[in-house]
Amino acid sequence: MAPPIQQTITRLISHYPWTTSPLIIGAPMKVIASPKLAVAVSSAGGLGFIGPGASPSDLSPSLQEASNLISSSPSLSKIAKEEGLLPVGVGFQTWAGDLSVASQVLEKFKPSAVWLFAPRHGQKELDEWTKGIRSVSKGTKIWIQVPSVGDAVAAAESEERPDVLVVQGADAGGHSRSKGAGIITLLPEVYDAVNGGVESEKQIPLIAAGGIIEERGAAAAMVLGAAGVAMGTRFLASREATINRGYQKHVVEAGDGGQKTVRTQLYNWLRGERNWPAGWDARGLANESWRDHEEGVEFDKNQELYAEAAKKGEEGWGERGRMATYAGTGIGLVREVKGAGEIVAEVRDGIRKVIRASNEL
Ligand SMILES: Cc1cc2nc3c(=O)[nH]c(=O)nc-3n(C[C@H](O)[C@H](O)[C@H](O)COP(=O)(O)O)c2cc1C
Repeated sequence: MAPPIQQTITRLISHYPWTTSPLIIGAPMKVIASPKLAVAVSSAGGLGFIGPGASPSDLSPSLQEASNLISSSPSLSKIAKEEGLLPVGVGFQTWAGDLSVASQVLEKFKPSAVWLFAPRHGQKELDEWTKGIRSVSKGTKIWIQVPSVGDAVAAAESEERPDVLVVQGADAGGHSRSKGAGIITLLPEVYDAVNGGVESEKQIPLIAAGGIIEERGAAAAMVLGAAGVAMGTRFLASREATINRGYQKHVVEAGDGGQKTVRTQLYNWLRGERNWPAGWDARGLANESWRDHEEGVEFDKNQELYAEAAKKGEEGWGERGRMATYAGTGIGLVREVKGAGEIVAEVRDGIRKVIRASNEL
C-alpha cells in the first residue's frame, strides 16, 4: 500500500505557492542549471534550482539574473513580493562552497529554498550551513540531498532538522557516493526510517531523484512515498540549460544508460577537481577519455588530449569525444530537447494519468 503522504504533499506545496502538485523540481546542476532554467521551471508551476557556479563568487550575479527574470514575469513577481522570497532555489556543494559568501548573498536575495549536497564533514557541516542560512533568511527552506538511509537518518535526527530531504538513487547523473542503491529500494527504506509511524504534520517531505525522466518513473516515485520528484538528466536536454550542444546531442542520442554511463573519478580529475570528499564519484557518459583511462593510458596524456578536445567546441563531445559528460542512466528516455516548461507540464500531467490508470488495475 502506498504510504499516506497527501497531507505532507499539501504542506510542502503550501511553502511554494506558485507550484502545482505533483511537484516537479529542476535539480541544481553545477553551471548547467542556469537562472534561466530555474525560472523557466518555476514559471511552469515547478520549483527550479540554480546550480552552483564555477566559483562561489558567481552566486550573486546568478541570483541577480534570476531576480531580473522574475521581475519580468507578472505572476512570479507578485508571489516574490507577497512572500518576500524569490520563487526559485539555489544548490550548494558544501565541501566546495563558502558559507560566509553564501550567507551574504542569501540574506540579500532570499531564495525560497536552498539545497545542500556533498559535505566533507558529514552532518556537522550540513548543520553549520543550515544554521547559518536560517539566521540570515528565516523563510528559506533547507533541502538536503542524501544518497543513503544512514545520511537521511542523520539529517532527520540532527539539531538543524532540514525542511525537505532529497533522496538520490544510484541512477542519478553527476556526483554521489560511489556505493548506492536505486530509488526503488532506497526511497521506501528512507521513508520507513524517517517517517514511518510519525504523524503527518511531523513527517519530512521526501523528494525522489535519480533516474526520473518521465511520467512513469515519476508516478512510481510518488507511489513509493515521494512528495515530489527532482530531475537533472532530463533538463540537460532543455532549451534553457547552459550546456554545449555537443553534450546535449550525446545525451539525446545515447540509450541503454546502464551500459553507456559509468561511475568514475576520471571526469572530476580532467576538470581539475581533485578534492571531492572521500567515497564520492560521478556518473557520466563513457567516451574516449574514459576508454583510454580503462586501457591504461597515463593520466597526463589523457589530460593533454582532453585539453585539445576542449578547444574543438561541439566536436569535443559525443561517443568519440573526450569531454566530461555527466549524465544519469535515464539518458535512453531523453529523446528530444524541449523547453523546460513543457517538460514540467508533461511530467506533472503524465503522473496524474499514470496514477489514474493504475486505479483501474
Ligand atoms: C550534469 C549534472 C550536474 C550536477 N550537479 C549537481 C550539483 O552541483 N549539486 C547537486 O546537488 N547535484 C548535482 N547534480 C545532481 C542533481 O541535482 C540530481 O540529484 C540528479 O541529476 C538526479 O538524477 P537524474 O540525473 O537521474 O535526474 C548534478 C547532476 C548532473 C546530471
